[in-house]
Amino acid sequence: MLYLAFESSCDETAVAVVSSPDGSDEFTVLSSEIASQIDVHAKFGGVVPEIASRAHIEAISALTYKALADAGVTAADIDRVAVTTEPGLIGALLVGVNFAKSFAYSNGKPVLGVNHIKGHVAANYLNGRIKTPFIAFVASGGHTSIIKADSYTDFETVGRTLDDAVGEAFDKIGRRMGLSYPCGAEMDRLAAQGDPKAFKMPPVHMKDGSFNFSLSGLKTHVINLLNTAEMRGESVNIADVCASVTAVICDSVVYQLGQCLKRYRVDTLLAAGGVLANSHLRAALTSFCNKKGVDLHIPPLSLCGDNGVMIAAAAKYEYEKGLVSDMSLDGRPSSKDDWKSY
Ligand code: KG4
Ligand code: ZN
Repeated sequence: MLYLAFESSCDETAVAVVSSPDGSDEFTVLSSEIASQIDVHAKFGGVVPEIASRAHIEAISALTYKALADAGVTAADIDRVAVTTEPGLIGALLVGVNFAKSFAYSNGKPVLGVNHIKGHVAANYLNGRIKTPFIAFVASGGHTSIIKADSYTDFETVGRTLDDAVGEAFDKIGRRMGLSYPCGAEMDRLAAQGDPKAFKMPPVHMKDGSFNFSLSGLKTHVINLLNTAEMRGESVNIADVCASVTAVICDSVVYQLGQCLKRYRVDTLLAAGGVLANSHLRAALTSFCNKKGVDLHIPPLSLCGDNGVMIAAAAKYEYEKGLVSDMSLDGRPSSKDDWKSY
């Protein structure tokens, strides 16, 4: 079966053509196009929703033809269309949803709406069958969630951030230090040169027995630290700040995931999302899972950020369950609790 998948929930327009036989766990990525808007938004220090919507409109048509051409297929060859419907910037989502519906309608193909977070998790499905149930951790610029998955299609959120997402915290702290948006990758590089024990940072996990996070306290703490130093005319070693922030985030994430795996007696962990490109977080999770005998899956760097391949992978298992959307498919800024986006 040939999937054409669209992703436009934030600042990347992505289109992929992926082949996967029904009933198998085999995937062949025939093309994966990504038009990033980072340069456009960098001068504003963050994503400007209206500009994002316009940039998606400008990119999506040519990107789709490129994805088909690079895959060596035509519109008629596509069997199923998939598109991110939620959560995300509503104007941005609507570009992908309406383009996908138009493509599906005009070519007589079925269309399925996919939850973006389910998509991030599904980036892990490309490496072969993963045992269920599993715990999944998704961290990106807009989302931070812990999920209990009973199957590839049955998800339940068991923990989330109560305020900022992990990527958002990296971006906001980095911005205060004068780094350019998005700041996660730069903070990752600087953290490797700093001392993780230089500054004591507040943990970002909730201490109420839940699996939730709160990152706004860490953000405020760092901003106060930098403001105080500035007022006193003292210099702050930015690499040390990056290392200390990264260390406390890694510690809290590992702690919450450890508690969650224990609570649900699960020994398989999937991690995904743009923040999982972080070398320190990847190392912390790998070391924890090796020690505890947990089977850990993290996508390759190329599939951590937003892409169309992950949307195709998530859609495949929903289609195979017989789930399909119709032309009433719409975008939604936040997820429904039942995880159904069709
Ligand atoms: O998944 P993604 O591409 O888009 C969203 O769905 O938000 O994630 C983007 C986020 C940004 O906040 C960015 O700063 C962060 O991922 N990020 C990183 C790294 N690379 C990207 N955060 C920490 N370390 C990195 N190496
Ligand atoms: Zn994402």
